[in-house]
Amino acid sequence: MKGEILMEHTPKTVAIIMDGNGRWAKAKGLPRTAGHKKGADQVRDVALEANRRGIQKLILYAFSTENWKRPEDEVSYLCKLPGMFFNKFIQELMDNNIRVTFAGELERFPESTAKVIRRAVDQTSHNTGMELCLAINYGSRREILLGMQKYADEVASGARKNDLSEEEFSNYLFVPEEIDLLIRTSGEVRISNFLLWQIAYAEMIFTERPWPEFDEQALDECLEEYSHRHRRFGGLDDEN
Ligand code: FPP
Repeated sequence: MKGEILMEHTPKTVAIIMDGNGRWAKAKGLPRTAGHKKGADQVRDVALEANRRGIQKLILYAFSTENWKRPEDEVSYLCKLPGMFFNKFIQELMDNNIRVTFAGELERFPESTAKVIRRAVDQTSHNTGMELCLAINYGSRREILLGMQKYADEVASGARKNDLSEEEFSNYLFVPEEIDLLIRTSGEVRISNFLLWQIAYAEMIFTERPWPEFDEQALDECLEEYSHRHRRFGGLDDEN
């Protein structure tokens, strides 16, 4: 029941692969873009609930490096979505003390999209509640590659020794945190190049529900399931 899950059983970091927008729309006889539009509304509902539940960071896969392969009109719509989303919801994010960040390479987006995202990041930068991180033009292999190129440059220039630890490695990534809970909607059971390093010990939930129908209650159900999982991080717990 809401509010009854102990804080210590609440994940600090939750990542979501928001899949199924297109199929949801198609099943209703609507264009795929209608699924993305509804999907953006769900982002609002789920972010507010995650914030209420005390999650520290929610990372949403909004646009992958592979999404450029989609038809031009769909890509163009996906590029407009952040603007539509923030126009509609930035005030609510402010009212709820939510801080917006992004993970990925913004440079490849139209300047108008990049600008709208940077503005939301700036506007919310002093908020102290949950961090809502949009993974946008994000791909995990590319994230690791870019980080390692930076590291190699630092070693080559003598700025640091070749003595990287696992903890320090994380700091070369767009998302340095470990993920506690990874959710993927709409029935597919795969990771799709999302946070490969960070999910090493994540609990995973794959739900049949398409993203446009993933609401507050669906998030609560995932948090409830998470609270019953025993995380051992390769060791043993009290029951073993
Ligand atoms: C995958 O569904 C979803 C996407 C590629 C886009 C996800 C984006 C949103 C939900 C909205 C983003 C919100 C903000 C705030 C920018 P799919 O199109 O692959 O669905 P399908 O597998 O059914 O075709």
